Amino acid sequence: MLKKQTSTLPRPRVRRHHFLAAWVRSPLKIGALLPSSRGLANAMAAEVDVKKPGVIIELGGGTGAVTHALLASGIPPERLVVIERDRKLHVILSSQFPGLNVLCADVIDLDKVLIGAGINRINAIVSSLPLLGMPKPVRLAVLHQMAAAVGHDTALIQFTYGPRSPVGRQHLRQYHLHGRRKKLVMGNLPPAHVWVYRKGQAVI
Ligand SMILES: C[S@@+](CC[C@H](N)C(=O)[O-])C[C@H]1O[C@@H](n2cnc3c(N)ncnc32)[C@H](O)[C@@H]1O
Repeated sequence: MLKKQTSTLPRPRVRRHHFLAAWVRSPLKIGALLPSSRGLANAMAAEVDVKKPGVIIELGGGTGAVTHALLASGIPPERLVVIERDRKLHVILSSQFPGLNVLCADVIDLDKVLIGAGINRINAIVSSLPLLGMPKPVRLAVLHQMAAAVGHDTALIQFTYGPRSPVGRQHLRQYHLHGRRKKLVMGNLPPAHVWVYRKGQAVI
């Protein structure tokens, strides 16, 4: 059982330093210069309905801004799994959230990761992945994996800096997804939109 999760989060300046260092290592793979603001992280966490069953999967944990907000919103640590590909960020995340299931993996292998972790019921996928900055073949493979993991009761929560849905119409149709822009967080740098996608029905 995890205790006092929030107290392990380093100060914002330290987080920004780790984040910037990761961006310098591979800007396109990180996709942002700064970690998500508290406002954006909270807006994403607010879209998770913790009363519904299933595991919450966070994609692209980075330095833990969204992880922290998810835990602070009341999600029990044992129901949260975080996936981060960057090895250094994975080490930092794991040390910030001891006992939390933080996996060093690429979302391109999400199907195998979920099987390996014994996860079959997913409540929500909370993604900070830089979808629009990915090379097209990578973006398509990542989208395919995310869509395949979305069940009929799963919310796919994704933020984007652009004005449009980061999942285009063609892919919404292909994967039977409906998307809804839920919130614009002006206080984030840059301002970001939170989108929620669901399978088979319009999001109310
Ligand atoms: C824009 S940052 C967001 C970090 C953090 N969640 C936040 O909001 O501050 C995107 C994160 O996704 C990770 N990432 C990018 N592509 C990935 C992939 N294919 N699989 C796993 N993680 C990935 C990056 O390493 C980076 O930490």
